[in-house]
Amino acid sequence: MTKNRLSKRAATLQPSMSLAISAKAEELRRNGVDVLSLSVGEPDFDTPSLIKEAGIRAIQEGKTKYTRAQGTVELREAIARRIKKDTGVDYPIEQITVANGAKHSIMNALLALLDPGDEAIVLSPYWVSYPEMIRLCEATPVIIHTKEEKGFKVDRLTLEKHTSDKTKVLILNAPSNPTGSDYTKEELQAITDWAVEQNVFIVSDEIYSKLLYEGTHYSPVSFGREVNNLTILINGVSKSYAMTGWRIGYAAGPADIIKAMNGLQSQMTSNPNSIAQFAGTAALDADDALFLPMVQAFRERRDYCVTRVNQIPGMHCNTPDGAFYLFVNVTEIYAQNDTVRDSLQLAAYLLEEAQVAVIPGIGFGQDAYIRLSFAAGMETLEEALNRIETAVVKLLNR
Ligand SMILES: Cc1ncc(COP(=O)(O)O)c(C=O)c1O
Repeated sequence: MTKNRLSKRAATLQPSMSLAISAKAEELRRNGVDVLSLSVGEPDFDTPSLIKEAGIRAIQEGKTKYTRAQGTVELREAIARRIKKDTGVDYPIEQITVANGAKHSIMNALLALLDPGDEAIVLSPYWVSYPEMIRLCEATPVIIHTKEEKGFKVDRLTLEKHTSDKTKVLILNAPSNPTGSDYTKEELQAITDWAVEQNVFIVSDEIYSKLLYEGTHYSPVSFGREVNNLTILINGVSKSYAMTGWRIGYAAGPADIIKAMNGLQSQMTSNPNSIAQFAGTAALDADDALFLPMVQAFRERRDYCVTRVNQIPGMHCNTPDGAFYLFVNVTEIYAQNDTVRDSLQLAAYLLEEAQVAVIPGIGFGQDAYIRLSFAAGMETLEEALNRIETAVVKLLNR
């Protein structure tokens, strides 16, 4: 009998498009091509020294052994303090679990919640990993397209139309990658009311909550006990403290779900890196002043890039509330030339003609867009946008 070498799970998994583009740009750079990258998903800032020093101290003090699978008591206490400060909600440390990055926390949460055949709602444009993570659980992603004119946000009526008796989870990501949209208190209230009424869990990915340039960020966990019992709050230190390589993310939620996530993690990976946990504790306990200069720099870059993009023929974008991405509408470019007709072709054209790496919108479920990251220095952004403008003008005048 012939046997498949790969499991169906592995064979059907889609690779991450953003990582693929970064790899292509890296390869061109190695071959001497001067590629500018507007494709990255991490701050270009260094981890603050206070945090690095905590990591060094952890090594010197021999904090290099296994910890509890769900993370040290010190780190979970620091997370509890941070969540209390940000949302007003008290979480005992038994309801907090630490993983190898927010991505791992999300995967653990989905594995704890989803059975084969269950449905999980994902809002498009979505962070590239959500649909694949749901498929890894052998559950079904139900994609709802959100619209630019509605700020790429979902409303209650639309959620109701996509709810079935199999709907188990809604993944919410605000501020969003790739659109930067965040929900107002009223908008979130309507979504949490729907979740409670339908008994649907919310996996609330708030990894960009500290990189906010407009308004106030609200978490579903602050909307009362009932929704609290259905919400798994996901956050981490990767983006707000420029710690992507350290791999510390966390989840806070109902005791039974967190316990299940701990069980899964203890059999799959055990604890996240002990040294990174001590560095993460220092980050979360530090004064907010630590990350405010980075937020200010991102705000200035956002304003510059939004203005520039909206001056390029065939391109326009909303002003994002948070995160460090612009989701740029390029439909007019497709309509006004004969060769570049989708986001993959446009990203390939910009890489070849302008030597600028961007991510095609199709990776986020919307082909009418490309994603530009402004996690790069001002000089790089200016030069990259000059090059994009020249390349687009050339394409439209062919
Ligand atoms: C929306 C979103 N969630 C989660 C993550 C992953 O965070 P971490 O690096 O902590 O795993 C990212 C990283 O790009 C992201 O954009």
